[in-house]
Amino acid sequence: MADDVAEVRRRIDIVDLVGQRVTLKKAGKNWRGLCPFHNDRNPSFNVSQELGRYNCWSCGAKGDVFNWVMETQQVDFAEALRILAKQAGVTLSGRGEAKDKSRDERLEAAMADAQSFFVKQLQASDEAKKYIADRGIPTDVVAHWELGFGPGGDLLARQLQKQGHQLAECKEVFLVDKDPSGGYYDRFRHRLMFPIRDERGRLVAFGGRIIGAGEPKYINSSDTPLYSKSRVLYGLDKAKHTLAKTRTGILVEGYLDAIACHRAGVTGAVATLGTAMAEDHVRLIKKWCDRVVMLYDSDSAGQKAAERAADLLQAAGIGVRVAMMPQGEDPDTLLKTQGPAAVEKAVDAAMPAVEFRLWLLRQRVAVREDEFWTGAYAALATATDELEIERYAHELAGEYPGTKDRLAAKQAIKRQVASLRRGGSPTRTHRPGKVGAARAKTGLTGPEEAVFRAMLSPSTKQDAWQALGEAGLFVTGAAEDAAVSLRQTHQGQPPDGPAADWVPSLPEGPALDLMSSLFMDESAPTGSAVLADALARLRSLREERAAHEIVAKSGDLDDDALRDFHSRMQRLKDAETEENQGY
Ligand code: CTP
Ligand code: MN
Repeated sequence: MADDVAEVRRRIDIVDLVGQRVTLKKAGKNWRGLCPFHNDRNPSFNVSQELGRYNCWSCGAKGDVFNWVMETQQVDFAEALRILAKQAGVTLSGRGEAKDKSRDERLEAAMADAQSFFVKQLQASDEAKKYIADRGIPTDVVAHWELGFGPGGDLLARQLQKQGHQLAECKEVFLVDKDPSGGYYDRFRHRLMFPIRDERGRLVAFGGRIIGAGEPKYINSSDTPLYSKSRVLYGLDKAKHTLAKTRTGILVEGYLDAIACHRAGVTGAVATLGTAMAEDHVRLIKKWCDRVVMLYDSDSAGQKAAERAADLLQAAGIGVRVAMMPQGEDPDTLLKTQGPAAVEKAVDAAMPAVEFRLWLLRQRVAVREDEFWTGAYAALATATDELEIERYAHELAGEYPGTKDRLAAKQAIKRQVASLRRGGSPTRTHRPGKVGAARAKTGLTGPEEAVFRAMLSPSTKQDAWQALGEAGLFVTGAAEDAAVSLRQTHQGQPPDGPAADWVPSLPEGPALDLMSSLFMDESAPTGSAVLADALARLRSLREERAAHEIVAKSGDLDDDALRDFHSRMQRLKDAETEENQGY
């Protein structure tokens, strides 16, 4: 199997393959065309013959020949392999992973049979139908979202067994559980069932809401061999057609909220599944969206969740707006009580993330308190551009304590924000590249990018490799993840040979994504002087972070410690003025 994959990869030329659908022109070392995965006006889709990979600078679509077939023909990996093997004239050995494969197929079959069961049970249950009707969900919506009913007891377990499924396997996909006496019973009892499909439409999990009152309100499949909850967004299989055009996602908290948005014509809506926003969600969102609007509950739990999600999304370079739902409402209740226009209106009225953060701050602290101002600087530091900072600094200047000089106040605010942004806060956006040069959107800071780019040149590879192993060197999670995964793949040794060989053989993950983006973009390579600068910058930032931690931890430093702290800060300042901006 692994040999077959390698053989197919060797024989299929990615430029030929992609060229069957996309008109490609040679541009530098890559081939370039209009991206087929989003509404592309300037060619931002790059194909590297050397790497055997494609990458869109704009929407982030990327992959190798197999991903290409999977994405453009909506098939799974095994099918893509069959298609390409046929084109390449490779006879598949059909052994190797065959055992695992058929297990996945069995699990998927059990899920599909469970889904049909739930749908039938809904038709048979007056109570469940009444519940749905009382919630104002019409039958076409029930059909469109494939809602069902899990009656419970061991009805599903017995049905699955009758259909020839092994209940031990059904347990693995969270359909049934085993009681102490060894019998199997249904996981979802007396619940309205929501099938959860991944972005390609494969049924991977279920969510179940209790009919009426009771605890827990929702039960969701745990992570199973088919499902990882932080890699799936409810509704994405339906929203993706809209997202491909608008690149604007609507993020909600609940199953019924996603459904309500779609009903109201807000068809880019997706929901996280009973779990906080995770890095994997962000990656998935970034693939489909440049911007998101969050419609979260306005209670304090909802506010905290929105704030946290905004942090992660902004750090990934996604534009964020937040809509405050009227107290006690969610999109589902809004649709029910006020109609579709109210849902649309809520989306339109969403405020930019910075404004949302300031708004939250005002709820929590008074403007005269110091805490308000530290919070305000932090909020402004997450802005996407200087213009935005300028605007909010201007607004806030009128409230700045201790001065009537609005201009001076504004300057003071901007200085504080600028220093926070220089401090390498993970939410800062990285410096724009040279005008006209295609640059990867990596989510890394400039110095971090320089270190990884240095891995691509023989003269700097060794030093960069050492740096990747340095504890606490990186600021962003993206850089940290990529460094760990690179070091793990190439245990203790920097990868051998030219980058065009080792980059495409990295395993799927953050290192492969980052290194192929850097390989394919057109920035100048990192020379050893630039690498040295970048490392100096990252190390001084690390020192600064450590110093801040000391101060944060001990309110009562003794004199020696204070002197030491001040001299460290002085050294950092000196280093900063000498800082070279060469990367
Ligand atoms: N959730 C969950 N487990 C719970 C409660 C909530 O997984 N015990 C998830 C569900 O995905 C749910 C979402 O969090 O849809 C939002 O929860 P909540 O606002 O409490 O419920 P609603 O979606 O508004 O559901 P309903 O309208 O039926 O009350
Ligand atoms: Mn609700």
